[in-house]
Amino acid sequence: MSKNIKNICCIGAGYVGGPTMSVIASHCPEIQVNVVDVNHERVAAWNDKNVINLPIYEPGLDKIIEKCRGINLHFSTNIEENIAKADLIFISVNTPTKTKGIGAGQAIDLKWVEESSRIIAKHARDFTIVVEKSTLPVKTAQTIKDILEATSKNKDEKFYKEFAVLSNPEFLAEGCAIENLENPDRILIGGSDKESVDALTKIYSKWVNKDKILTTDLWSSELSKLTANAFLAQRISSINSISALCEMTGAHINEVAIAVGTDKRIGSSFLNAGPGFGGSCFKKDISNLIYLCNHYGLNEVSDYWQKVLDINSWQQERLIEIISKKMFGTISEKKIAILGFSFKANTNDTRESPAIYICKKLIEEGAILYIYDPKVSNQQIDKDLGNTQKKESNIEKSCIYSSSVEQAVSSADAIVILTEWDEFKKISWESIYKTMRQPAWIFDTRSVINIKKLKNKNINIWQTGFGI
Ligand code: UDX
Ligand code: ADP
Repeated sequence: MSKNIKNICCIGAGYVGGPTMSVIASHCPEIQVNVVDVNHERVAAWNDKNVINLPIYEPGLDKIIEKCRGINLHFSTNIEENIAKADLIFISVNTPTKTKGIGAGQAIDLKWVEESSRIIAKHARDFTIVVEKSTLPVKTAQTIKDILEATSKNKDEKFYKEFAVLSNPEFLAEGCAIENLENPDRILIGGSDKESVDALTKIYSKWVNKDKILTTDLWSSELSKLTANAFLAQRISSINSISALCEMTGAHINEVAIAVGTDKRIGSSFLNAGPGFGGSCFKKDISNLIYLCNHYGLNEVSDYWQKVLDINSWQQERLIEIISKKMFGTISEKKIAILGFSFKANTNDTRESPAIYICKKLIEEGAILYIYDPKVSNQQIDKDLGNTQKKESNIEKSCIYSSSVEQAVSSADAIVILTEWDEFKKISWESIYKTMRQPAWIFDTRSVINIKKLKNKNINIWQTGFGI
């Protein structure tokens, strides 16, 4: 018999917590789902009547919010009360890389996870299942357990408290989060308390086939998430490393990727060369893996994964060099249109976006950037480029926001495509090129342009991995 879950609380209304809880609520109308967050502004945005103002842009999310919000899906800052009511609590808070102290730059900062565990320990009642949703270092569940148990054993506590800790990592990718949640490749649940594992399995089996629900011990579940992200990132560094070789040898990376990817053992996904991976997970998780390996004295293993990160940074460095070289060795005072700022298409997220580093470097070289992204707000770009801009004497001159592609590219010396938004795939490059200051260059880092179609049109296009 599994525990009957009637009330769920999710701590953290971010990119993971918000969409995941929305999908659970939509499939489990008998369960009340409360998503809580300390960030008042974010909660207000989740509650905004106009779904266009949701804090996260995810295709399909608005429809689910319209269907469930206020019925069995609630967003609030009332953390304590919702914890007390919950049978099951997801911890879905931010887990960034530590910026100072031991392990700075590599280890994950568990401050927010620890804080959440303490609030749960204080306010939960009866038997509560606590589920790690955020990606966490192996053995974090032990930290959570230790904090929870210290409270449940405290004789002065007014209420009876008992906890079970599970790991249930999220594999959703931004931009297709709803699709990934609705039809996941697998659901992973790690833990030893059978009743709790069954209770969580029961929730997912409302819409996921049981044979896709894998159960493991806690540590394997935690490590699987880190490993999955490391493998995905490794593929991108592999294809990007070969893109550089294609440019030297006259081969074409997209053709190589198809030829390689049709081998079933390799598979065709995640073989798009580009400006390097971004997003909140890959760099953080590999850094954490490196930290773990070093901790256990596995230096060769950590060196191996370090190379995946090194190639990622190198890909961005070499792009900047190529841009500068093609533009007669100097970009100072030149107008460069940046198309796309998010770390990939279909999201407004800019965390670790290659665009941040590339734009900062171009500004440092004196370029005047005209940035256009269909979903990222100007305020967010400001925040991301903040430090660089402050160093400039004339902020407005180094970075200008455009409200359309046409506005950004008009009389530009160069265009740099950094995100593969569909909108960019539909552009008539021939007519856009005519509006630029000649001799102009288009740098397509994401292969959005059908370069073969534009052959003999006298357009200077450089594309990642396209050797000439
Ligand atoms: C990733 C994992 O895919 C997901 O399972 C995990 O839960 C969270 O981290 P996400 O960061 O949202 O998801 O996006 P993803 O689609 O994996 O892309 C990450 C980065 O890799 C992006 O910058 C993307 O542009 C880049 N990428 C991806 C490539 O450069 N080439 C590819 O072929 C695929
Ligand atoms: P992710 O991509 O992992 O979802 P986000 O940064 O988008 O990460 O979201 C994490 C959310 O967790 C943030 O909105 C943050 O305010 C929230 N958060 C962090 N610590 C706490 C806490 N102790 N209580 C409630 N919410 C928290």
